[in-house]
Amino acid sequence: MACASCHNPALGWSNGLSLAFGVRGQTGIRSAPTILNAAYADTLFWDGRAGSLEEQATGPLVNPVEMGNTLSGVVDAISSIPAYGPFFESAFGDRKVTVERIVQAIAAFERTLVSGASPFDRYKYKGERSALTASQIRGMELFREKERANCAKCHRFDDFSADLTDFRFHNVGVGMDHPQPDIGRQAVTGNPEDRGAFRTPTLRNVAATAPYMHDGRFATLEQVVDFYIRGATPNPNLDINIQPFELTDAEKADLIAFLNALTGDLHPIAAPELPSDPPATAP
Ligand code: HEC
Ligand code: HEC
Repeated sequence: MACASCHNPALGWSNGLSLAFGVRGQTGIRSAPTILNAAYADTLFWDGRAGSLEEQATGPLVNPVEMGNTLSGVVDAISSIPAYGPFFESAFGDRKVTVERIVQAIAAFERTLVSGASPFDRYKYKGERSALTASQIRGMELFREKERANCAKCHRFDDFSADLTDFRFHNVGVGMDHPQPDIGRQAVTGNPEDRGAFRTPTLRNVAATAPYMHDGRFATLEQVVDFYIRGATPNPNLDINIQPFELTDAEKADLIAFLNALTGDLHPIAAPELPSDPPATAP
């Protein structure tokens, strides 16, 4: 089990599964988010429980449902691979392997995973008028139309954030019809008002990161848009900015076309050969 088993560069740095599964075929409770542009987030995980990429990286190593190792087991494993020695020496001055160095190295690598100029960026920030199609431009206007879709309220792109997220936590109703819903942010803050709230995900490269939402319930962007159109799942903590609205079929197509314009160039990175690929489904 590698980080790349769940954050695979070929699958938008996610894994194409609704719920992550880890060692011994166990299924987790949440979908693996893309780690693209995680460099810009001030809190990590769907519920924001980690404050830095370094802090985040220790989580999966020891999470029993993900990689299921111990910190000393990880240090032993990395120490036993001679090829790492020279890399530790050039990065840290000597070959000593520690947990701190391992997570620093992983975090430093993750900070290079930044989505490059998408058609949206070329249009908005470089003034290339032909970078977006007419349909995508209409979709962008709908995306920030306050009276209806109002997507940009949370998936912000302005001076505050170019990342299509406000990095804040909102209850948009996903899973709230479940008898025992994932309470999300409330588990971190203890505040009942945060019940069912999750961090607004970036929409960069969103066309490549299906399935969607913290429980991976939607396979397509069309299903996501339909969910918002019907006003999500009503519940006492539903964010006040989520309300049913109407779009014509043509407008819906425009909005989805805009979401498809958020895919930027990535640095080519070859995933290391994994000893064995994870099974396609949990046994
Ligand atoms: C078994 C699958 C699995 C493995 C292996 C795994 N992750 Fe994850 N990763 C997840 C899931 C699921 C989440 C979301 C969990 C949550 O929010 O509670 C996540 C979240 C993250 C995030 C937060 C992204 C964000 O925007 O908040 C980062 C960064 C990340 N993982 C990096 C790593 C690194 C580094 C490793 C290897 C040390 C790793 N992951 C291994 C499944 C996995
Ligand atoms: C009130 C804030 C808010 C508004 C308004 C909003 N979103 Fe979201 N969006 C979120 C949050 C929070 C999530 C994660 C929800 C979850 O998984 O529980 C999300 C998830 C998504 C996802 C899934 C991304 C992924 O990687 O899984 C897409 C796509 C999306 N929103 C698009 C839109 C579109 C399109 C609109 C407008 C029609 C919109 N959003 C309006 C906050 C918002």
